[in-house]
Amino acid sequence: MTSNLDSTGRSSAAGAQDGGRQDDCAQNCNVALVGFGTVGSSVARILCERSNTHLRLTHVLNRNVARKKVDWLPSSVQWTENIDDVLSSGVDVVVEVMGGLQPTEDWIRRVLASGKSVVTANKQLIAHCGPELIALARQMKQQIQFGASVAGGVPVISGLHEGLAGDELFKICGILNGTCNYILSQIETNGVPFATALREAQKLGFAEADPTEDIDGLDARAKLAILARVGLHCDVKATSIVARSISAIDAVDFQYANQLGCTIRQISWAELRPESNTKSKGDILFAAVQPALVELSSPLARVEGSKNLVVATGTYGGETVFGGHGAGGHPTAVAVVSDILAVARARQCGTSYAAQPVEKTPAVTADFTTKHYLRFLVKDRPGIIASLATILSHCGINIDSVLQKPGCPKPHLPFLITLEECKASLVDQALQQINSLDFLVQPCLHLPIL
Ligand SMILES: NC(=O)c1ccc[n+]([C@@H]2O[C@H](COP(=O)([O-])OP(=O)(O)OC[C@H]3O[C@@H](n4cnc5c(N)ncnc54)[C@H](OP(=O)(O)O)[C@@H]3O)[C@@H](O)[C@H]2O)c1
Repeated sequence: MTSNLDSTGRSSAAGAQDGGRQDDCAQNCNVALVGFGTVGSSVARILCERSNTHLRLTHVLNRNVARKKVDWLPSSVQWTENIDDVLSSGVDVVVEVMGGLQPTEDWIRRVLASGKSVVTANKQLIAHCGPELIALARQMKQQIQFGASVAGGVPVISGLHEGLAGDELFKICGILNGTCNYILSQIETNGVPFATALREAQKLGFAEADPTEDIDGLDARAKLAILARVGLHCDVKATSIVARSISAIDAVDFQYANQLGCTIRQISWAELRPESNTKSKGDILFAAVQPALVELSSPLARVEGSKNLVVATGTYGGETVFGGHGAGGHPTAVAVVSDILAVARARQCGTSYAAQPVEKTPAVTADFTTKHYLRFLVKDRPGIIASLATILSHCGINIDSVLQKPGCPKPHLPFLITLEECKASLVDQALQQINSLDFLVQPCLHLPIL
């Protein structure tokens, strides 16, 4: 059995026997884990294997807890199914790694109200009710830290909140969902269809049995809403951010993208821009999670497999890139333990820091002005390009290029039209007409070229 040593050299297993705070070791910080799954068990590993930390795991909560017990934690750790055991204990920090919205939200409110701080990895919870929980934490002079909720082990939340606090950030973009990045990388590298790449990702544990949250962009937009709050100080609801699925991407799209010097990634983008007819800054938040073409030279194009990358752009410091493992028990647990240490440090200094309040409530739109990629699958016949060009020109859209891979089957002919810069809404308007044309085998795939 491994046990922690506190600063007096005493085993934390012995020190934690009362399950509570010890007056003679004021610097010790007692920790309860709520949820003992992938992340929770990795947090426990780090807490009990890393020596010379003053963090002491005293409680582990999980439903049906008997089947969760392990022999590598100190015997003094109290295993429980009852949140009241945690609330009534001398625990200083409650680590929520069980996920979901309920009973999680209620429990976190009760934890804060009982005078304990919270560390959570739960992006859905923070995206859903982060501001209310932060306000409660402030009111109770406690802290709530959520560094692991976005990009797993990549310290992007603390980087935006502290490292870049001196800048005025106006843009955050990145790859926030490792499952989508893995699937797109597989289609690109192996030339397989989307369904095959998804099945492979599920087999290897990179995708859930129900992958909807990931592939439809809902997971990434919850993370983007959190980043917009922390980095751009915008009060934005996840549901107000447009999310588009990666499921229509095909191997042929990577071939065409490559011909344009690009690749395809699921890109999360949030950018504050001044309203065009006023001088005031930050009136509109352009935000979306969608598959998009990115230049091969961009750092976004080079993100491999299930990794995450975030690029933050500020008025004074320019671009700063954060990258690394966006998921997985150990990388995520590192972010959780870093948050626990931050809470412990602040408690020791007597500061009751809670995350900075949001300042702006901009209108949110996905109507980006970019170049566009339109990929058609048609039954080949004369006059197709002319029909499409007529509709596009009636909508005031200029064609930039037309590409067609040679040797494709006539009944399923994929070809590409790229458009000069214009608003996405203009293209959507044209596509409403185009998608009813009888030579289309399937609806046109429309991607922005970033
Ligand atoms: N895994 C990652 O790579 C990763 C990365 C970043 C953030 N996160 C976030 O971290 C959190 C935990 O993720 P995870 O992957 O560790 O999940 P997980 O493996 O499913 O672990 C969750 C644990 O909580 C327990 N639990 C769930 N609901 C409960 C309830 N109502 N009462 C008591 N116990 C309950 C589960 O028990 P059972 O065994 O009975 O299900 C399980 O042991 C989530 O919010 C997730 O979004 C995860």
